[in-house]
Amino acid sequence: MAIERTFSIIKPDATRRNLTGKINAKLEGAGLRIVAQRRVWMTTAQAEQFYGVHRERPFFRDLVTFMTSGPVVVQVLEGENAVAANREVMGATNPANAAEGTIRKEFAESIEANSVHGSDSAENAATEIAYFFAGTDIVG
Ligand code: CMP
Repeated sequence: MAIERTFSIIKPDATRRNLTGKINAKLEGAGLRIVAQRRVWMTTAQAEQFYGVHRERPFFRDLVTFMTSGPVVVQVLEGENAVAANREVMGATNPANAAEGTIRKEFAESIEANSVHGSDSAENAATEIAYFFAGTDIVG
């Protein structure tokens, strides 16, 4: 098994409800180490670029509006198979389908306000990490 890095966002619905610590306890409990972290309030342009792959989806405008509705915490997670490990502890995108014990089952409000984002591949993780962090910001 390989040590890898993935990108994580604690979304505005979660920062609004003061759930940053509880979510990060779940991530750490899943064997992930937070090796970079910053609180940011994304601009519309930043959110549009970050979610550019979803530009043609019907939910794109609402997604950008939601992701710019409050502060988020962007972070880099490191661990064995970090991409898959993070996705497992996050749970399904729609909290209605998320397994017991997952972050989205416990905390998400809806498919949009679903508390966390996590990269879906190692390749996308590298792109997403580079969007918010310089190499020198990441301290493993
Ligand atoms: P995320 O992992 O951040 O990537 C894209 C986001 O779009 C996704 O999580 C959801 O929060 C959001 N989203 C909103 N509506 C939908 C939908 N109908 N299907 C998939 N994702 C959606």
